[in-house]
Amino acid sequence: MTDQRPRPNKLHAPDLRVRKDGDKIVMLSAYDYHIARLAELAGVDLLLVGDSLGMVVLGGNGTTAVTLDEILHHTRAVVCGAPNTHVIADLPFGSYQVSDAQAIENSVRLLKEGGADSVKLEGGRVVADRVRAIVAAGIPVAGHIGLTPQSAGSQGGWKVQGRDVESARGILADAEAIAEAGVFCIVIEAVPTELGALITERVAVPTIGIGAGPSCDGQVLVSPDLLGLETRLTPKFTDPYVDLATIIQDAFTAFGTDVRQGHFPTADLSHAMDPEIVAKLRGPS
Ligand code: KIV
Repeated sequence: MTDQRPRPNKLHAPDLRVRKDGDKIVMLSAYDYHIARLAELAGVDLLLVGDSLGMVVLGGNGTTAVTLDEILHHTRAVVCGAPNTHVIADLPFGSYQVSDAQAIENSVRLLKEGGADSVKLEGGRVVADRVRAIVAAGIPVAGHIGLTPQSAGSQGGWKVQGRDVESARGILADAEAIAEAGVFCIVIEAVPTELGALITERVAVPTIGIGAGPSCDGQVLVSPDLLGLETRLTPKFTDPYVDLATIIQDAFTAFGTDVRQGHFPTADLSHAMDPEIVAKLRGPS
């Protein structure tokens, strides 16, 4: 039986800044009503409608093909499922790179049409001015540095970033640049533990790690990874909490067996007709 307690009021961007020195922030990706609802009931602080959607929901091999309309579609479902949870919607590849005006226009759509509370974009120093422009339009922005899947190709693939002094300093500079530009939190993906800790020490906004070690101010996971649903890729930082893939496949197999053997539906699961009506129906018309 699921917990039905209502969640306290949703956290807004300023509440999250305060959590820098408080309780760890718990964030999960979500793409649909049911998962969002269960995450809210479980007390998750932040939900991210991530462009990982392209891989873990739509079955593709990367995130670059995801469109703004797809993010909007899933954001609406997540907001319906978790009305009292802060929902961050990803700005997908190509929706913010062209100009400040394009980035603001698309961020506005995610809030107005999708119902998101904030947006997230990938990159460091190169997007700092973009962050400033979106924030100036009154839209809270989350950052994302380290491994940035939208540009995984130019980062040499899906690899841990910042392993040497030069690249680690670059990622630190990225964190400082977007913090200064006004992000309310920074997702740090796939960097060594020590670098995750150093960034967390150096920036005033909360850091939320995914494969960035335990020192970050919060942690995020892609929910199908946590649930053991995504079986193609198994990132090192994910240890599924449940094997839903097996549970679901077993349920589908059992249903198939019941249907084939005539055990489904039972009389209890069927609609009976008044016997008099049946007699009339079967008699001469
Ligand atoms: O798209 C996504 O789900 C993300 C997480 C990996 C943080 O950006």
